[in-house]
Amino acid sequence: MNTVKTVNELRAAIAQARAQGKTIGFVPTMGNLHAGHIALVERAAQNADFVVASIFVNPLQFGPSEDLDKYPRTLRDDQQKLVDAGCHLLFHPGVEDMYPHGMDSQTRVSVSGVTEGLCGASRPGHFEGVATVVSKLLNMVQPDIAVFGQKDYQQLAVIRMLVRDLNMQVEIIGAPTVRAADGLALSSRNGFLSDQQRAAAPALYRSLQQIAEALKAGENNFAALIQTAQQAQLDAGFRPDYLEIREAYSLRPATAEDRHLVILLAAFAGTTRLIDNLVVER
Ligand code: PAJ
Repeated sequence: MNTVKTVNELRAAIAQARAQGKTIGFVPTMGNLHAGHIALVERAAQNADFVVASIFVNPLQFGPSEDLDKYPRTLRDDQQKLVDAGCHLLFHPGVEDMYPHGMDSQTRVSVSGVTEGLCGASRPGHFEGVATVVSKLLNMVQPDIAVFGQKDYQQLAVIRMLVRDLNMQVEIIGAPTVRAADGLALSSRNGFLSDQQRAAAPALYRSLQQIAEALKAGENNFAALIQTAQQAQLDAGFRPDYLEIREAYSLRPATAEDRHLVILLAAFAGTTRLIDNLVVER
């Protein structure tokens, strides 16, 4: 696996693969790779001949009080994991490669609708930063397919929307959330949890499962379900940020008539913010 830093090197390596008639699969990440990321790379390898991954901790999507500086950077380990998963090319640009004219004058991509509420409300500017960097990366790599995790459900909806609205010729594949044995969704931020917080963290997924069971059994009092689940989170030592039931495709607030639902949550353990979600069909 080759690691390249500049856009020119990236384009040259991809042009070579294209010249050999290969299809291109792409997995963008911020590094500190775990089994969730690796599942995306394996999925890309199943669906394309030549797999490109990127590692770039994107300053544009972090708020001023967020964890940009302490975001874990583990390039050597990540490279080995990517090789083992069947990745052919790693794009690892610096901020100066990604934003050569500075971030302030960078053209921004702003997606409306699906960015309203949830993480869009808790993290102002976050999805504009994500949509901008993902648009740039998709234009640089020009893959046939790109794989994203359902773990970041609202992000996946944002990316589907920008690809549709900007007429990008790429198929977006959403891959299921990879969890630890006790149910906690794998995340680079889990490493910030104390032992006690880590032991309590499966309560978040359990609260999603309990709401899902009730919804499947026909319960339509969403407010009551949410209140019970948020109390359970508080009891487990978490500070709920949001917990909502939405229509799974449009992400608008769910109604009793909706059949495809998604329950989404964000909660703080100390200063660490975790997110998770669960899709319910009924
Ligand atoms: P990052 O948090 O590194 O995640 C990269 C990809 O891995 C995303 O598509 C995310 O949804 C997926 N992922 C993370 N944890 C997962 C899990 N437990 N199971 C399955 N997939 C998982 O998301 C980003 O980076 C950035 O916002 C990015 C899209 C790279 C733009 O900067």
